[in-house]
Amino acid sequence: MQVSDTDFQELADEIAREIVSTYNITVQDAVPLILKSIEGDFELRKSLAKATDSKTLKRTSGYKNAVSRARKAIYYHLRQYKGTSAFSGAVGALGGMPAEAMTNSPELVEDVVHAVTHAHVSTAERSNDRAAILEKIHRADPAARSIVDVGCGVFPLLLPQSMYRSLDRYLALDRDELAVEAVAAYARLLSDRWLVSRRWSLEDGWDVLRNDAPDNGFDIGLLLKIVPVVRRQSRHLLDILAKTPAKTLIVTGACMSMTKQVSIERRERASIESFAEQYGFQVADKFDLSNEFGYVLRQP
Ligand SMILES: C[S@@+](CC[C@H](N)C(=O)[O-])C[C@H]1O[C@@H](n2cnc3c(N)ncnc32)[C@H](O)[C@@H]1O
Repeated sequence: MQVSDTDFQELADEIAREIVSTYNITVQDAVPLILKSIEGDFELRKSLAKATDSKTLKRTSGYKNAVSRARKAIYYHLRQYKGTSAFSGAVGALGGMPAEAMTNSPELVEDVVHAVTHAHVSTAERSNDRAAILEKIHRADPAARSIVDVGCGVFPLLLPQSMYRSLDRYLALDRDELAVEAVAAYARLLSDRWLVSRRWSLEDGWDVLRNDAPDNGFDIGLLLKIVPVVRRQSRHLLDILAKTPAKTLIVTGACMSMTKQVSIERRERASIESFAEQYGFQVADKFDLSNEFGYVLRQP
């Protein structure tokens, strides 16, 4: 029997309905990823051609392998912090805004900033907690004049201008080129000098940033959703995170997995608590947001 593109489309719909319940994705978004993962799959094509009904098809190794590949495709897609094309499009739009946009069309700037922060998983998932996390940062040191944001993503775009007015310096660091570009574009629109973004990896160490840091170090170091990531991916770099030149560190973790609908809070808490213990930080405060929790740490 001939297998048509429509058969593949229907199959992708079927696989999507079967697996989306465990992932943070809709059927609509999953289908194109699944189609891509099964296109050119000769074994599946053969299984489809032979099977007389869907029950028989689902028992074939062609089908089972296709489901497993589809799961992987969705998993790797969700593991990215940014939905790549939406994110780069929004960052491009922000970068293309004229310098006077903040004064002439602030609502347009707000729309584009919203598009950038919603295309980046870390900021999108705290969209209901924006005011709450800003309040926690303020409460950790109400007199803070300088902040270093390590692995910033696009978090600096969430800060209101009123908060910026009390700051002399906000140094935003990330190894991700687009995130750094987004913060730089935003800084240009604010036409102020306190917000500075640098493309920087933990591997580079703190020495290369000495010209960007105040003489006595920063008042606050933001380590938002980065300690558990680094602990998992490159544990040896925790030493550098622990040496963040700031008097107070705000360290957060996520409650829910980026990919699956499962809680990761226990694992992330354990990771942050052992970071605090290993480097001798004092836990001055703890807080909970809807999908994030945090620790305020002070230097020993
Ligand atoms: C989970 S995201 C959190 C982003 C942001 N802090 C927030 O909470 O919205 C982790 C960020 O850390 C950055 N990152 C991970 N490893 C890094 C490293 N070794 N050096 C610099 N940045 C890193 C990633 O590029 C990503 O932007």
